[in-house]
Amino acid sequence: MAEIYLDNAATTKAFPEVATAVQEALTTNYANPSSLHQKGLAAEKIVKKARKKLAQQLKVKADEIYFTSGGTEANNLAIKGTVKSLSNYGNRIITTKIEHPSVLNVYKSLEADWDVKYLDVNQNGKIDLEQLQEYLNNDTILVSIMAVNNELGTIQPLNKISKLTKEYQNLYLHVDGIQALGKIDFFPERLGIDICSVSAHKIHGPKGVGALYAAEDTRLKNIFCGSGQEEGLRPGTENVPGIAGFAKAIDLLASKEEIEQMYQLKETLVNRILTEIEGSTLNGPAIRDGAPHIANISFAGIRGEILVHSLAEDDIYVSTGAACSSRRKDSNHILEAIGIADDLIDKTIRFSLSTTNTEAEIETVITKLKEKITMLRKII
Ligand SMILES: Cc1ncc(COP(=O)(O)O)c(C=O)c1O
Repeated sequence: MAEIYLDNAATTKAFPEVATAVQEALTTNYANPSSLHQKGLAAEKIVKKARKKLAQQLKVKADEIYFTSGGTEANNLAIKGTVKSLSNYGNRIITTKIEHPSVLNVYKSLEADWDVKYLDVNQNGKIDLEQLQEYLNNDTILVSIMAVNNELGTIQPLNKISKLTKEYQNLYLHVDGIQALGKIDFFPERLGIDICSVSAHKIHGPKGVGALYAAEDTRLKNIFCGSGQEEGLRPGTENVPGIAGFAKAIDLLASKEEIEQMYQLKETLVNRILTEIEGSTLNGPAIRDGAPHIANISFAGIRGEILVHSLAEDDIYVSTGAACSSRRKDSNHILEAIGIADDLIDKTIRFSLSTTNTEAEIETVITKLKEKITMLRKII
């Protein structure tokens, strides 16, 4: 059976055009962009064009984009670079309980020296604006809130959030935009975001390359020491092949029609599961309130891990949760935060779609899921 990949929030398969762009940069335009000779200039041109392309996509200026080694590094740089830069203005930093570990664990690492507040979320994964307002004070220098949650697909009300944060001077709003780019309208400047992170491998680009947007009036201190690449914020020889692939992936971002198709596939998948599989519940936002690509569903009595392996036997790939944490046995901080029943936390599957999935694939997944669950319920 042909493989069916529904783990696109973990990572995506690179488009062939992306692979070609990466290969060309590896084998033809392989010089160091800092080298003065013609080949160096050719490599530098690739980086410059990619910077412009990402800036155009985000509707920001090219010199507000810094390439990084991925989303994790961009988030670290945003948070650590801000606290280093604004430490004289206050001591409070605020984030949510459902951030990706590349944000949450940075906040945890700062607890000894900073007054760290974690925002609760409701059962849909949305923050409470009143609680944010309560936590904000003149001592607050940073607020980090993700645009789209990687396990639930929850979209946070960034317009309303930035209205609250803009009331304070010397405070940056940092947004993890990694699951948002290419899935929802995501224009940081228009949304009142000061700093945001994006990552290429979630949009059919290469792994190990991402970017940070920092509005021109933000002051981030560098957290790495090295040469002067990326204005000294991310020193190190640029990942030209990765950056070339990232630019190509931006060229190929989903159209409005493709996003609508993804919503329709998600609707079919979720509605059919909920009506045809007993004991199944959708976690997080209603189908169209969340991002088009993520659906999180619990199956009473069936451990997610077992279902993942069972589906994989038929070349169907889904996930029990964030890929980076799904091999760990401890509980899932996102599902805990939305308050799903304790005994359902490890009985949950994340289906995540891409524009390349088809109706026929969804039909097969539903059929196989029904077969597997019936079989597992008999033997457990
Ligand atoms: C919301 C979110 N933030 C950050 C990351 C980390 O990005 P990267 O894998 O590029 O380091 C991920 C990837 O899983 C993610 O989904």
